[in-house]
Amino acid sequence: MLSYQHAYHAGGPADVHKHAALCLLLERLAEKDKPFAVIDLYAGHGVYDLGSTEAQKTQEFSSGIARLWPLRNKAAPAAVKKLLAALAPPNPDGTLKSYPGSPALARAALRESDRLILNELHPAAQADLKTWARRDSRISVHMRDGLEALVGLVPPPIRRGLVVIDPSYEVKSEYADVPAALRKAIRKWREGIYFVWYPILADNRHGELVAGLEKGIPCPVLCCELMFTPGKAVKDAPGLRGTGLIVVNPPWQFDTAMNEAGAWMAKTMTANGQHTTRWLKPAGA
Ligand SMILES: C[S@@+](CC[C@H](N)C(=O)[O-])C[C@H]1O[C@@H](n2cnc3c(N)ncnc32)[C@H](O)[C@@H]1O
Repeated sequence: MLSYQHAYHAGGPADVHKHAALCLLLERLAEKDKPFAVIDLYAGHGVYDLGSTEAQKTQEFSSGIARLWPLRNKAAPAAVKKLLAALAPPNPDGTLKSYPGSPALARAALRESDRLILNELHPAAQADLKTWARRDSRISVHMRDGLEALVGLVPPPIRRGLVVIDPSYEVKSEYADVPAALRKAIRKWREGIYFVWYPILADNRHGELVAGLEKGIPCPVLCCELMFTPGKAVKDAPGLRGTGLIVVNPPWQFDTAMNEAGAWMAKTMTANGQHTTRWLKPAGA
């Protein structure tokens, strides 16, 4: 189908919550000297112009990153600070124009020995990614179905790292297919960190995905959800009630850091919204 275009949603509250968590995970990986690999299975375009027709049409970024950007020199939780710091180089004059997608955030964390493996099925997005990544020998770009690539690309040659699973959920079966593919991937690479995004819609269809990740995963599983204003959808994203993340094998104290960042984001980006962090499967269970 592939009608989804992330340019309409870049920098919205869901992106901010997801990318703040991603920045924390990348920071933890880069804390050790050992090289790491990031596999980004639904990579999108790489970077987004907030002045584009698509971004201007929905204005989703105005209830997301545009609320945080003016606070960039103020105190904030580490995850938020990390994301805001990543936005400084592409917006050097202080005017918020460019928003980094997951590939750009991962690339900013890479050292010489680290690797970034990108995958994207939409031809236009894939072409943009290839142009964006050219001449960076640390980055490779694939064009495969995301879930087929999830099972096929793990474990990466560098067996320390993170898999980002951020589907567009255009196909309803993805809510069941993601846990099934993830279970297969974990059988091949148990130590990997797996980071799954999902939308929280009015009909709660994400329940199937969360339930699927509650069972059959032999590793710690953490779930973080940011609910927007109760009963109200985010501007111009009909049905979107909130945004969720599942992290398999989260680093030590990632839950505490997300608790703090999530509460701050709920206060700053939503009216009476709420953030929760809960273990679907605690470490050692
Ligand atoms: C939510 S966007 C990704 C955003 C990106 N991860 C970020 O955070 O900047 C989902 C992307 O998945 C792509 N996509 C949709 N179905 C796919 C599939 N079956 N395999 C791979 N990519 C797919 C879409 O074209 C879209 O670019």
